[in-house]
Amino acid sequence: MPLLCVNNLSTVLIDAFTMKTLVLLGLCCAAVLAVPPPPVREEGVAADRCTADVCKAEDGCRCATSQSPLSDVKDAPQLISLTFDEAVTDDLYNNYWQPILFNRNNPDDTPIGATFFVPHEYTDYQRVNDLYNYGFEIAVHSITENNLQQYWRSASEEILEQEFGGQKKILTKFANIPEEDIIGVRTPQFQLAANYSIEAYMASGLVYDSSWPTLPDHPLFPYTLDYLSNQQCLLGSKCPNEAFKGFWVLPINDLHGADNKECNTVSQCNITGTADEIADWLTKEVDAIRTGTRVPLTLVVESQWFGKTENSLEGFNKFLDRLTENKDVFLVTQKQVFEWMKNPVGLADFKTEFPQRSAACNTYSCKLKSQSDGKDRYMNTCVPCPLNYPWLGNPEGN
Ligand SMILES: *[C@@H]1O[C@H](CO)[C@@H](O)[C@H](O)[C@H]1NC(C)=O
Ligand SMILES: *[C@@H]1O[C@H](CO)[C@@H](O)[C@H](O)[C@H]1NC(C)=O
Repeated sequence: MPLLCVNNLSTVLIDAFTMKTLVLLGLCCAAVLAVPPPPVREEGVAADRCTADVCKAEDGCRCATSQSPLSDVKDAPQLISLTFDEAVTDDLYNNYWQPILFNRNNPDDTPIGATFFVPHEYTDYQRVNDLYNYGFEIAVHSITENNLQQYWRSASEEILEQEFGGQKKILTKFANIPEEDIIGVRTPQFQLAANYSIEAYMASGLVYDSSWPTLPDHPLFPYTLDYLSNQQCLLGSKCPNEAFKGFWVLPINDLHGADNKECNTVSQCNITGTADEIADWLTKEVDAIRTGTRVPLTLVVESQWFGKTENSLEGFNKFLDRLTENKDVFLVTQKQVFEWMKNPVGLADFKTEFPQRSAACNTYSCKLKSQSDGKDRYMNTCVPCPLNYPWLGNPEGN
């Protein structure tokens, strides 16, 4: 910007423009030179390489690195986020989430946290309200949860804003969750549409993404997109390469699954066996990082795993029982992971938080036609039923 201004000025001098123009341009240059403008996103311009001398923690910037933000690595709390990205239904709530997650405490005697990335179709918003009031984090998954990878990879910014911003509106209205508490997003099937995804997220007031997997041998701490990410782009996803100041990526650090093959969800790891064998496998995965860099671990838990793989529910419960016996392992929301990254403290100063909430919900059961297949959907909401089933472009169901 200053360069452009100076160039204009000399052109103006040579061409002997009017005095008025000169004065205006002069003022513009003076202002620009006095206070350097904040770096704004330059559309279509690739971000600069991230180095420690330009990207500083005190400015809220972090490069993608496998190095702990603490000088004494072993002093860090081991943070683990259990994350779910399925439609929130009464069945999953009663059969899995309540028995696994409720009434389980962290070493500081505070209930554990978890994050739900909520898609729209089939979701019961009264249950979303219950999860929120219990203290869990509610985040965005999308409206359609379209199962074609190609749809997400090549979506326009406008569609993505309708998908993510629209779902945030739906959660706010129908589950009565305060807008400011919905800050995270996971794109279906981990398929980013490069710069468009992040633009759409930011336009929707979302501040962190949880859709970018990294191989188990390249674990990364959460980082910002102020500068170019050096994270490998996997699964055919299109990764962003413009600068998005202050936007955070919480990488999904992959696990070692069957035959030592990498996998990004517990179900896709294809581990089978007795409950003890399943618990041993997960414990080993955690211990590998806990005795290493203590990078925060995001576990993507698909509840269908519990139905599909024998002993997985019991094994997962055993694993969690063992974890919470450790004094340095904390099950927290993704939001807490990102807050810890902004202010990384050692174990002695680390406290989990468990919010007291009471978002109202008067339950209404709505029967509405879905635009996706013209069939009826039953949707429980915390407010009177909308006229239409909420959908892309009409999240409030007007
Ligand atoms: C994102 O921005 C970079 C830098 O301009 C550009 O090379 C890339 O093609 C953009 N990606 C998309 C999908 O527009
Ligand atoms: C798990 O099974 C699926 C389907 O057969 C396969 O695509 C995937 O690669 C397997 N993953 C691992 C870690 O073995």
